[in-house]
Amino acid sequence: MRDCVVIKWGGSLITDKEKMCTPDNETIDSLSGVMRQCLDDGLDIILVHGAGSFGHLRAKHWRLNEGLLPVESFTSQDDCNSQKEAVSIVRNEMLTLNNYVSESLSRFHLVPSIKPPHQWAKNTGSSFDGDISKTFSDYQDSICVTFGDVVDCEGEMSFGILSGDDLVVRLCEEIPNVKRLVFAIGGVDGILKRPPESANSDDLIENWSPGMKFEGLHNTEIDVTGGIGLKAARGAEVAKLGIEVLIVNGSYPERVFDACTGNEVLGTKISA
Ligand code: IPE
Repeated sequence: MRDCVVIKWGGSLITDKEKMCTPDNETIDSLSGVMRQCLDDGLDIILVHGAGSFGHLRAKHWRLNEGLLPVESFTSQDDCNSQKEAVSIVRNEMLTLNNYVSESLSRFHLVPSIKPPHQWAKNTGSSFDGDISKTFSDYQDSICVTFGDVVDCEGEMSFGILSGDDLVVRLCEEIPNVKRLVFAIGGVDGILKRPPESANSDDLIENWSPGMKFEGLHNTEIDVTGGIGLKAARGAEVAKLGIEVLIVNGSYPERVFDACTGNEVLGTKISA
């Protein structure tokens, strides 16, 4: 059996986070090239991507991460008047971003098999409900792709945001031959001791385990999910299973390749 690598492309890596719904096609292509190399190197790949400016900005305005709220909590936007409308717009935005990703993968002769979470998952957090083995049963034949999404939730919440960082945990737990989990993130080399604006190369934490302090990048102005803190926490859950977990700067394709194939690489290794 080939080894499988689960890789998360962070939303801020593959989009311009300041401009609504703008993909960074150059970065997406460079990452697709790395996925091609990994397959050629004998790995199975499951790809999870984030939202960046395709989901977070509108999800933040309509507080979709908090579930259904009273109408009087909101001001309308030109093209959206309610949370319910926002749910369907954000789902479509994610399908649009996914389309850019899929087209790019196809240019590298990869066959993406798309699994939009709102079609097969419900509830949020890493214990969400969804049949991973059935949904991803073709992962050895194609490159399965899923992403952070707005999913239905049971009870009063009605809907919520399922982050790609939660999806990766379950993929690592339930796909039998996962060897490594790689978070390719934007703008930083890994987990830093200090905020990125004031950090230098000595501030990279090369080995991180729960309990170690750090000051991460989490832009709460636009982010509805957990930033680097969520990656660290979810990474530690996965490391407990004996799976290697790495966070690397996704703007350097060779680092992403080395992380996926198990070579020494600049970044943060997470242990339980
Ligand atoms: C967020 O998913 C999904 C939506 C806002 C719809 P992620 O948590 O995986 O996204 P990034 O990586 O932070 O952009």
